[in-house]
Amino acid sequence: MHNQIIKDTDIYLEQVLSHIEEAVQVVNSEGKTIYYNRFAAEMDGLKVSDVLGEHIIQVYPSLTLETSSIMRVLATGTAILNQPQTLVSSTGKIVSLIYSTYPIYQNGILIGACDISQDITKIKELSERMINLESELLNTRSSHRKKSKPEEPHATTRYTIDDIIGNHDSIIKLKILEQRVARSSSAVLVVGETGTGKELVVQSIHSASPRQNGPFVAQNCSALPATLLESILFGTIKGSFTGAEDRPGLFELAHGGTLFLDEINSMPIELQGKLLRVLQDGTLRRIGDNKLKQIDARIIASMNIDPEEAVRNKELRLDLYYRLNVVSLTVPPLRERKSDILLLANHFINMYNTKLNCHVSGLSDETSDAFFVHSWPGNVRELQHVIEHAMNIMSGQVIELEDLPAHLGQRNILKSNEECTESIKESSLPEILNSVERKYLIQALEQCKGNVAKAALLLGIPRQTLQYKLKMHKLMDNPLS
Ligand SMILES: Nc1ncnc2c1ncn2[C@@H]1O[C@H](COP(=O)(O)OP(=O)(O)OP(=O)(O)O)[C@@H](O)[C@H]1O
Ligand SMILES: [Mg+2]
Repeated sequence: MHNQIIKDTDIYLEQVLSHIEEAVQVVNSEGKTIYYNRFAAEMDGLKVSDVLGEHIIQVYPSLTLETSSIMRVLATGTAILNQPQTLVSSTGKIVSLIYSTYPIYQNGILIGACDISQDITKIKELSERMINLESELLNTRSSHRKKSKPEEPHATTRYTIDDIIGNHDSIIKLKILEQRVARSSSAVLVVGETGTGKELVVQSIHSASPRQNGPFVAQNCSALPATLLESILFGTIKGSFTGAEDRPGLFELAHGGTLFLDEINSMPIELQGKLLRVLQDGTLRRIGDNKLKQIDARIIASMNIDPEEAVRNKELRLDLYYRLNVVSLTVPPLRERKSDILLLANHFINMYNTKLNCHVSGLSDETSDAFFVHSWPGNVRELQHVIEHAMNIMSGQVIELEDLPAHLGQRNILKSNEECTESIKESSLPEILNSVERKYLIQALEQCKGNVAKAALLLGIPRQTLQYKLKMHKLMDNPLS
C-alpha cells in the first residue's frame, strides 16, 4: 500500500514537473541524470533521451568538475542559491538564467543533487527596455525644461504636498515634517500600511525639494529577481557578463534628483549591503567596472511593514535600517484618522465627477455611518476604490448603502439605525439602551466629522467616557481626537 502511494506520487510529480516553466535536472550521487524535464531540454536545446542516464560532464563538455554547480554540490553537500548565468543557446540566442542547486539527502546520506533554473531573458529585456525608455524620457524632459520656466516642477512627479488631503493632526504634522525634510539631501524612510499614501508622500517631498527640477526615478524592489535588480540599479559595462552592454543604472539616471526605492525590505540582503555603501560614500561601481562613479541622487525608501519587525525577520539589514532611519516619516492608517474620511470621500467624489462625468453631491447619512464604522484595512486606496465602485453603479445623487461593496458592513449599520424600534419586543432594557447609545454615538461622530473631543461636548459626556464607549461598541479601534 505504502509503495503504491510512492509510485503514484512519482507519476503525479513527474507530470507536474513536466508542466512547470522552470528547468529541473536531478542527478544521482555519481552525477548521472535521473530526471530532466521538458523545459530544461528546450532551454539546453537537447533531447531528454540524450541526457537521461548520462554523466553531467559528458552531456555538457564545456563544464568541468569545478565549474559545474551540480558537481560542486555533490562534492560539498551545500546548496548554491540564486546564481546568475548567461548561456548562448544552440540557435545562437542569449539566454539569461537564475539557477539554484540543492543537495538531496536520504537519512543523512547525500544521494544526489537537483538544479532548478529560471529563464529571466524576457523580464531582463523588458526591464532594460524600461530603463532605456526612462532615460530617453528624462533626456527629453531635461531639454524641454531648459526651455521652460525654472520654477516649474519636474514633470515625472505628479504630486505635491498640497495634494495630500487631510486635516487630522497626524497629517498636518506629516506635511510640516515633509516641508522640512525636503530641504536636505539625507536619505529618508517612509513607513506606512498599504494604501496610506506613501508614494504620494515620497513624490511630494521631491516636488518640494531643491531637486524638483531633477529626475524622479522609482523602482519597486520586490518586482525583480536579485541579480536583475542589481544590474538595473547599478548599471553594467560591456562584457561584464555575456550580453552585457554599457548601460547606466537607476542611481545614475536619478543623478541630481531622487531615487525612490519602494518596498525596500524586499531587496535581497546582499544588495542591501551594496546600497548601504552608496548611501555612505555616494559612490558606486557599475557591474564589471573597476572605476567608481560619484552620484548625487537622494534616496527615499519605503516599506509597508514595521521596520523593526523587518529587521527581526532578517528582511532588512540592521545597519541599513539605522542609516535610513535617521530621517523617517510614518504615514498613519486611515482608521487612526477617521475624521479625514469624509474629506477624502468628497475629494474622490469630485475627482470621479470629472472623470466619469457625473454629478454626485455626497454620501447619504447611512453611508457616512458605515464609513466611520469600517476599519479600512486597505486605507485611502480602499476608500478611493469604494467611491469609484459606487459612482459606477449608482443611479441617484448621493452614495447610498446599496451602492457600496458588500463587505462594507451595510447590514450592521442598517441594524444599528433600525434595531431601536424593531427589537423592543424581544430585547431586555439594557440591550435596548445599548443599541440606542450606539446609534447616538454614530450620529454624534458623524456630525463632528469623527472628532472625538467635539462629539463628547455634543453628547455632554467627558471625552474619556466617550472613548471608552466607542471602544465598547467597537466603533473605533483607536479613537483619536
Ligand atoms: N492623503 C491622501 N490624499 C489624497 N489621496 C491619497 C491620500 N493618500 C493616498 N491617496 C491616494 O490613494 C492611493 C494609494 O496611495 P499610494 O499609492 O501612495 O499608497 P501606498 O502607501 O504607496 O500603498 P502601497 O504600500 O500599497 O504601495 C493613490 O491613488 C493616492 O493618490
Ligand atoms: Mg506604493
